[in-house]
Amino acid sequence: MQLTVIGLGLIGASCCASVRKRYPGWTINGFSRTKPTREKALAKGLIDRACDTIPEAVSGSDFVLIAVPMGEFRKVYQIVYDFYHEGLVVTDAGSTKGSVIDDLITVSGSIPPWFIPGHPIAGSERSGVSAADPDLYVDQQVILTPDRNSDKSAIECVIDFWTRQGASVVQMDVTRHDEVLALTSHLPHILAFNLVHALSDDDDHIDIFRYAAGGFRDFTRIAGSDPTMWRDISLANRKAILKGLDRYTDRLKQMRGAIEQSDGTWLMRSFEKARGARRLFSSLSFHRSSREDSSLPSTLQSYYAKEGFSGVIRVPGDKSISHRSIMLGALAEGVTIVEGCLEGEDVIATIQAFREMGVQIDGPREGRVKIYGVGRNGLIAPRSALYLGNSGTSMRLLSGILIGQSFSTELRGDESLSRRPMRRIADPLGQLGAIIETENDGTPPIRIRGGQLLTGCHIGMTVASAQVKSALLLGGLFADGETIVSEVTPTRDHTERMLTGFGYPVERHGSTVHILGGGCLNACQIDVPGDISSAAFFIVAASIVPGSDLIIEHVGVNPTRTGILKILNLMGANIEVLNSRMVGGEPVADLRIRSAELSGIEVPPDLVPPAIDEFPVLFVAACFATGSMVITGAEELRVKESDRIQVMADGLKILGVKISSKPDGAIIEGRGHKFLFSSGSVNAHDDHRVAMAFCVAGLRSKGLIEIDNCANINTSFPNFISLAQEAGFDIAVAG
Ligand code: S3P
Repeated sequence: MQLTVIGLGLIGASCCASVRKRYPGWTINGFSRTKPTREKALAKGLIDRACDTIPEAVSGSDFVLIAVPMGEFRKVYQIVYDFYHEGLVVTDAGSTKGSVIDDLITVSGSIPPWFIPGHPIAGSERSGVSAADPDLYVDQQVILTPDRNSDKSAIECVIDFWTRQGASVVQMDVTRHDEVLALTSHLPHILAFNLVHALSDDDDHIDIFRYAAGGFRDFTRIAGSDPTMWRDISLANRKAILKGLDRYTDRLKQMRGAIEQSDGTWLMRSFEKARGARRLFSSLSFHRSSREDSSLPSTLQSYYAKEGFSGVIRVPGDKSISHRSIMLGALAEGVTIVEGCLEGEDVIATIQAFREMGVQIDGPREGRVKIYGVGRNGLIAPRSALYLGNSGTSMRLLSGILIGQSFSTELRGDESLSRRPMRRIADPLGQLGAIIETENDGTPPIRIRGGQLLTGCHIGMTVASAQVKSALLLGGLFADGETIVSEVTPTRDHTERMLTGFGYPVERHGSTVHILGGGCLNACQIDVPGDISSAAFFIVAASIVPGSDLIIEHVGVNPTRTGILKILNLMGANIEVLNSRMVGGEPVADLRIRSAELSGIEVPPDLVPPAIDEFPVLFVAACFATGSMVITGAEELRVKESDRIQVMADGLKILGVKISSKPDGAIIEGRGHKFLFSSGSVNAHDDHRVAMAFCVAGLRSKGLIEIDNCANINTSFPNFISLAQEAGFDIAVAG
């Protein structure tokens, strides 16, 4: 294979370095306008031949990458076109694609089928051949913008070229590419250059720069980028950049006005919305390497616990109750105050969705959220699709609310949520008269048609799911007449309890729940108890680490959620429920857990729904039991944030446990309380609860357990690492 790279700046030279590292057998021809650059690339071993002309570089090659500044592209392409030979595939690395297409058409009259426009979204403020990085493209994205006439095998060839270098490739329409990049890359660079320029014109600039702290450094890092490149990009993508600049200028004027008028409320709302969006969108990054936020550790290491756990801890607010408090607060009349709200990414997704629909929400700040309810019919159409990150609860419950709106909506999620089943809500909500479209395989995105007349009816659920039940009850708020939902098995009843708290009548008769549409919700005060699903990691940790005596305060012990306690008690755990009390309609207690010798049991199927989120850590507990643990009737575990049966079975096998997975559960051969896991490396598949369960496993391991793909812990338990360390876990963030 002979590769030609034209342009030996950061992008081109890194590509040479990357191919060199991975495919030593390839021959690389390099061309750069300046001789010293060519020679440097040759001396560094990045290329095999430093060519003096482009025709010489292209001759005999199989693949050409043009990585020159946008302003030079047309000239370079003209030569490549003139010296094109049969079978050659050509791509480029330019940051704007519309201008590349214009240049192709100007030179060759049309877009040749062998030219596949591309854009590796990689780079840094460093430039030149000396900045060449062989791993620049690992875990990064490359966007290709082929057209109808592009040769299929040429597209495949370019995809293959980039994926071999560790990147992933997506295809996009040219205009879309340029609009998106104008906002996400070009605008920030222009703003950074402009800010530094403005400050450097100041008479005082030496002092300003001397005392510039983190904020200035973070914001302006990219102003160190190559000016030629950015001049060319600014001109090449003029239209889209101007549109972005106009939008930004309007915002800036608004912000200026708010500061001038001392309008703290406006500023607070704007900053809060921005902060929420940033937290949420960091989970949108397709690759972990672009998640620059250090609060999102990708790999964790968990070590043997030398001592038992003692002391008193509190876990963050219940995720299910937090979601519901935002939703009902938004639909209520008046201001709802929530205390103890979970500040995890899933709940932030719900908050942002309501902000997009015109609801003013202050916080969360230390668990406090203030929601200015707009009433049952007060939501307004969001400007675009609502992005719900990793949160199945947001997507399913919101669907129930959105079927009752006059406007249409689209709901999207991250990779994991985009794989989860949504027909389970689309079909039953359809019985109320809703029109909901999913992808053909029933997964998101989902599109909900607004303005439908909904009529209450009796719906028999086919899955044991509180999310489905809640979506139906929320849909029932907007339906004419009575909606009756029959459950197959009782599931968590937070929606029913909270509706009652908001003064909305809901009745339960046996396994059916009844709600009458058209009523009004009245704002209230909500105190969210600690999440028993988060407490579960500490309950199991204290149970399996000898010498433990731990108290977890203020945990929600709603009987539809205490399956974990019941299962562990059947296994012989030592858990005391202390100070039972009611807080805002939900039972709450303190839990005291002392280590105990556990026995394997057959988990009663009726305890599966009330412990559904706790199975990953229950799998870990089962390894320390005497005898086998048999889990059946838990097929729902296969459609959670990951296939939790498979992922736990794969991980535990690596750690030396015999486990056989079944379609609806697993059999785990317990090894007794003295057992220690082998050390090893497991994959959490970006599933928060799996990641935390394996951290618990590490406490009883012969060495270290390394857990990869953990970044999603933040979705339900943002302070897990610090709290676990405080409690005595020996956990470290890898690297
Ligand atoms: C939830 C219900 C459960 C649970 C999820 C939260 C809720 O999902 O697993 O974490 O808040 O209603 P299913 O309804 O799919 O069982």
